[in-house]
Amino acid sequence: MADLTTNFIGIKSPNPFWLASAPPTDKEYNVRRAFEAGWGGVVWKTLGEEGPPVVNVNGPRYGAIYGGDRRLIGLNNIELITDRPLQQNLREIKAVKRDYPNHAVVVSLMVPCEEDAWKAILGPVEETGADGIELNFGCPHGMAERGMGGAVGQVPEYIEMVTRWCKQNTRMPVIVKLTPNITDIRKPAEAAYRGGGDAVSLINTINSITSVNLDTFAPEPTIDGWGAHGGYCGPAVKPIALNMVAEIARNPETANLPISGIGGVSNWRDAAEFMALGAGNVQVCTAAMTYGFKIVQEMISGLSQYMDEHEMTSTSEIVGRAVPNAKNWQDLNLNYIAKAKIDQDLCIKCGRCFAACEDTSHQAISMSEDRVFEVMDDECVACNLCALVCPVENCISLDAQAPGTIDERTGKVVEKEYANWTTHPNNPIGEMFELTTPDE
Ligand SMILES: Cc1cc2nc3c(=O)[nH]c(=O)nc-3n(C[C@H](O)[C@H](O)[C@H](O)COP(=O)(O)O)c2cc1C
Repeated sequence: MADLTTNFIGIKSPNPFWLASAPPTDKEYNVRRAFEAGWGGVVWKTLGEEGPPVVNVNGPRYGAIYGGDRRLIGLNNIELITDRPLQQNLREIKAVKRDYPNHAVVVSLMVPCEEDAWKAILGPVEETGADGIELNFGCPHGMAERGMGGAVGQVPEYIEMVTRWCKQNTRMPVIVKLTPNITDIRKPAEAAYRGGGDAVSLINTINSITSVNLDTFAPEPTIDGWGAHGGYCGPAVKPIALNMVAEIARNPETANLPISGIGGVSNWRDAAEFMALGAGNVQVCTAAMTYGFKIVQEMISGLSQYMDEHEMTSTSEIVGRAVPNAKNWQDLNLNYIAKAKIDQDLCIKCGRCFAACEDTSHQAISMSEDRVFEVMDDECVACNLCALVCPVENCISLDAQAPGTIDERTGKVVEKEYANWTTHPNNPIGEMFELTTPDE
């Protein structure tokens, strides 16, 4: 069986699956059970400064978006950081770390944007024996209005400043957790790097309102007739998170900055995808909240089986492997030509491909009187919509045309050579782009 042990910025764990800072990691009881179930590490639910703990709402704090089968695909929350006393959390962290020395215990922190406030909390956290800290610059609600969380994460200068304070005042590795509620994720990541951060983790939750009650006209979840925006997470956010991870991994300024990938990880495949795009490990919240701690067992067995099949011995062989293949649009090969193909044996004649193509795309699918659907190669641009709306898996595929074939749509011979938009004769703004060639 493949060796899943990881060393993320010097923090060792039996596998790359950590629980993200959230309710699953809010107390000793949970964390012990999580480690027993197989999780490799945890980021403890965010601690605030000494003093009266924050007060959460006592009404619905979650909202959900469902898929057609009522599978939860998006989760919204208006929860704050831990509402348990700081000293109690610190005692529990110390006890857990003592009993699980080989598991990763990282502590998430959020205190006011003042150096003394950060200094005051770093010592007691270090005293617990925790492996590292994660700076919560992402929480989009409640704390942001108090000048913390997302309010810091949206200003690169603040990220850099607080990261530097922490690096100067602790020997623990510092992970900077980024908010996705910004325009360009590369800027906060660069700031974390400049501040001396050992790694970034992302994404925290996305600003969201789940729904509006059309009888009361209140946003949901509704507290006594009112609603507030919350943070969105779960499988629905994975594509956004994957792109942000890739953006940081591809950026020359931050290419060597370790990344902990978060956002919709629900199975081993999601995890491997984050790792392929540059994440050294992953963190999970919604999937554990939906299915319980034992889902990690499927993640462990799935990832090791995948690695065995690909003759990989270490997870580091996956990390970053897809990064060179993630390009900007203008670098894609415009000489590549594919055509959709319908497998008539699998087709159930529902006509969804026809409706989508005929009404909204390229009118490239014909329908006979007895409902046989066929792709017309002289119209098909291989947009893939037919394959995506088809309810039967593998019924419609995209076939690449071999070089030398005549493309029936354009009448041109499919070329073997690579050509990007920059070099294309029809490109009106070609000079704005630098000429690039694909990596060998
Ligand atoms: C109820 C809830 C509470 C959360 N609390 C925190 C928190 O205290 N600190 C933090 O950094 N992130 C917090 N998060 C964000 C998660 O750590 C994670 O970044 C996010 O949920 C995306 O991962 P997922 O798609 O696996 O859920 C919370 C998320 C949820 C759902």
